[in-house]
Amino acid sequence: MGFRQRTIMAGELSSQHIGERVVLSGWVDSNRDLGGLLFFDLRDRTGKSQCVVQPTDETALLYEIARKLRSEFVVNVEGVVRKRENPNPKIPTGEIEVVVEELMVLNESEVPPFEVKEDTTASEDLRLKYRYLDLRRPSLQKNLAMRHRIMQTIRRYYDTRGFFEIETPVLMKATPEGARDFLVPSRLHPGSFYALPQSPQIYKQVLMIAGFDRYFQIARCFRDENLRADRQPEFTQLDVEMSFPNEAMVYDVMEGCLAEVWKSVGLTLPSPFLQLSYHEAMSRFGSDKPDLRYGLEIQTLTEMIRGKTEFKVFTDVLEKRQGVIGAVVAPGGAEWSRKQIDTLTDLAKVYGAGGLVWIKVTPEGYESSAKKHLSEDLLSDIKTVCGAREGDLILVASHPKWERAYTILGALRSELAKRLGLLEGKQFEFAPAWITNMPMFEEDEDTATFTFKHHPFTAPDTQDWHRRSEGLGDVRARAYDIVINGYELGSGSIRIHDRKMQEEVFDLLGLTREEQLEKFGFILDAFKYGAPPHGGMALGIDRIVMLCSGTDNIRDVIAFPKTASMQGLMDNSPSPVEEKQLKELRLEVKLDKSVEKPE
Ligand code: AMO
Repeated sequence: MGFRQRTIMAGELSSQHIGERVVLSGWVDSNRDLGGLLFFDLRDRTGKSQCVVQPTDETALLYEIARKLRSEFVVNVEGVVRKRENPNPKIPTGEIEVVVEELMVLNESEVPPFEVKEDTTASEDLRLKYRYLDLRRPSLQKNLAMRHRIMQTIRRYYDTRGFFEIETPVLMKATPEGARDFLVPSRLHPGSFYALPQSPQIYKQVLMIAGFDRYFQIARCFRDENLRADRQPEFTQLDVEMSFPNEAMVYDVMEGCLAEVWKSVGLTLPSPFLQLSYHEAMSRFGSDKPDLRYGLEIQTLTEMIRGKTEFKVFTDVLEKRQGVIGAVVAPGGAEWSRKQIDTLTDLAKVYGAGGLVWIKVTPEGYESSAKKHLSEDLLSDIKTVCGAREGDLILVASHPKWERAYTILGALRSELAKRLGLLEGKQFEFAPAWITNMPMFEEDEDTATFTFKHHPFTAPDTQDWHRRSEGLGDVRARAYDIVINGYELGSGSIRIHDRKMQEEVFDLLGLTREEQLEKFGFILDAFKYGAPPHGGMALGIDRIVMLCSGTDNIRDVIAFPKTASMQGLMDNSPSPVEEKQLKELRLEVKLDKSVEKPE
């Protein structure tokens, strides 16, 4: 016998349906026997509704079926909606219940390895192994529904603005973009490999050269890099490219999209976004992806301290061209114990500081870890510049390299925000910003060689480019990031569209002309045939959904994520393959024991 067609979803029932006959289909969320009356909650993706079976002569058969229900059984129910005697104001359908008249078990369930409930205590590994059960939990259902809504908003937004959605290959040529590639062996070309795209970067540039003018794609990207709470080996980008743009046009189109996205899920994103140069972001907040929901700004003390102390820690730094001394203030921190301050020193050391100077502003005067090296006048000047008050703690850090010095202070700034609870209740407050004027190159401190900061297709600032012989470290790129609440949500740039300039950038990155042709010959060739000026950006969709859903774990917004050690626990990937498959590829697996296994 077939089952009845559903007339309404379980989460949609309300007191306006009282008296109506309805049909529901879904899962038994929980059931209880209250002295004769049998209750069970029927759950579907919209929520759950209480169903009740009354023991009467006519319902004897029904009652027997209902008595055998267990959690996660799949059921089909027909009944009449009535007002509950004891309403439950905590759930949206808490006013009503369905008096069951027909009940069909469509499938039974074994006792699940963990209870499908919101506040489950099951380990994440167990939940990932039985992901289909985990995904039944309301919060994950909500996150994926939100993800869907966001994708549709993005598609509508770009479609109405004349952007074409064009798919680009997943099997492509390995082209370095910063991370390690995932490789796919070719059967027809034994010994050769495709790479999975780290992003569609080169293809979207080729699409501009091909005259498509405005492109977007919701693109799967693959990167074999160490995972963090906001990183997955495969993730999804909103990838955008435009011909004949300037920075303002890109900002406008991307900001507009994010505003629509936030609105589509009932949130608000302040606009226009703040614009901070990379240098300003680093020197005020100690990060190129600062959380701007709170202050605790860094104060630079370098020039103020110069010539006013013999303290070697500071004089050594002051001798260096790039040396920076800076401070952050912990309001009320003068009360903190030695141990509490020591953990801050340890944190500073993790980020590369030699140590940390602290100054407590107390009613009796200054206490400081460097009291004998810092005069009363200097301590007083530091206090004034930092805007510190009685009861505060000033943390002073220094480093011969400016970015390192500010990174240390930035780490202290975020730790202080945590300690002081400055982010409490601010989960759905958003502070977006553009980070602009990024450096074009990044120097490897150990090898003194340069690598690209964004990717090698980014155009340099024209004026800086003319001065490149004076030092590559000072060349800024026409690159920009969007950051929100401490996350890098996206990055992009105006691109190089001139073959000669592109070759020179590759030269500077240490690629020989042969290597350039081998790796990037096709795009260098394409530049010969009328490449328009172009530029764009990519946003991490997983990170957008993370922010909008209020989670800090990227796995909560991806249906089938990998673990931190890059495994799929449900399908058991990666796994060895059959001998036959290897043979077809003409490959033999022989692990090189001399190479250390990655952690
Ligand atoms: P980028 O490498 O900065 O730029 O990536 C753009 C955005 O993608 C997201 N993202 C990730 N999300 C989850 N897991 C990861 N492993 C991961 N890596 C990156 C971030 C990031 O800001 N082709 C250029 C864009 C361009 O220049 O147009 C690119 O891919 O949110």
